[in-house]
Amino acid sequence: MAAKRIFFTGGSGKAGRHVVAYLLEQGHRVMNVDLVPLDQPGVDNLIADITDSGQMFNAMTSYAGLDELEPGNGVPPFDAVVHFAAVPRILIKPDNETFRVNTIGTYNVIEAAVKLGIKKIIIASSETTYGICFSDGQTNPHTLPLEEDYDVDPMDSYGLSKVVNEVTARSFQRRSGFDIYALRIGNVIEPHEYAELFPGFFEHPEVRRRNAFCYIDARDLGQIVDLCLEKDGLGYQVFNAGNDDNGAIIPSKALAAQFFPGVPVTRELDEHEALFSNRKIREVLGFKAQHNWRNNIDAPTEG
Ligand SMILES: NC(=O)c1ccc[n+]([C@@H]2O[C@H](COP(=O)([O-])OP(=O)(O)OC[C@H]3O[C@@H](n4cnc5c(N)ncnc54)[C@H](O)[C@@H]3O)[C@@H](O)[C@H]2O)c1
Repeated sequence: MAAKRIFFTGGSGKAGRHVVAYLLEQGHRVMNVDLVPLDQPGVDNLIADITDSGQMFNAMTSYAGLDELEPGNGVPPFDAVVHFAAVPRILIKPDNETFRVNTIGTYNVIEAAVKLGIKKIIIASSETTYGICFSDGQTNPHTLPLEEDYDVDPMDSYGLSKVVNEVTARSFQRRSGFDIYALRIGNVIEPHEYAELFPGFFEHPEVRRRNAFCYIDARDLGQIVDLCLEKDGLGYQVFNAGNDDNGAIIPSKALAAQFFPGVPVTRELDEHEALFSNRKIREVLGFKAQHNWRNNIDAPTEG
């Protein structure tokens, strides 16, 4: 694939840093737009605030680095925007601030990109849109597996902000005809976290109920973003971004029966197929997971 010039927000964060590294490895140029710089060789940093529309328009019409002054042809256009910057869950900031930063920030980024003619925009949505993660009390999904046509209904400010962002994305797509893809990202796992977290998940699977047992390897998330950059012409799309299997040793049917009793399972599931389905990214984008948890940590005996 041709190298692209990418405007990336939130690249200094937990997920972003791995996705930026993956995109750099594919030969893309990445300008990371964040409140704090990313200390990673090969990445260009610009400190800017997504909640300030003027800064987003300005940054999107900026040189990415001093080397771009040399040709003397002015500022090159960005080929794509990848928008990850956000308050990434509830209880970091007050609820109204989480909602404000995430919704206004996303509006500003998408509006600037569309009005500047950047025809590929990828935004970070979330598994929390399905309404289980930050619900008050234990909530059951309407159906399983969780797929993209689900009627999302979160009851918290963060999940709500991501639903609003999907609607914002859809609105700008209708207006522009550009490609705007929203990734409902599962629980992001960095390479070192398998050893740290998964033994606890195996011992106490109930702690993963709110995530519907999903996970996405941070490097595989890089692959998903890259596939989205490659795939043109899909208009507005929502994709679950998760790995193939559940982050659990209990097989899927038993997992659903034990933790989501009475919830209709709408289709046959493979033995360990994720209840947070990634079928769409496999079928539409050609995603092939490279970093299943079983390649990163030994599975204990089931039972
Ligand atoms: N980590 C997960 O498990 C997970 C799951 C689902 C969705 N997501 C989404 O993925 C994205 C990345 O999540 P993360 O875990 O890397 O979060 P993070 O908090 O580690 O990174 C977010 C980055 O955004 C930056 N940022 C925050 N406010 C900003 C502003 N006003 N202007 C510019 N930059 C700003 C932060 O400085 C930070 O570097 C977020 O949109 C998050 O909602 C994350």
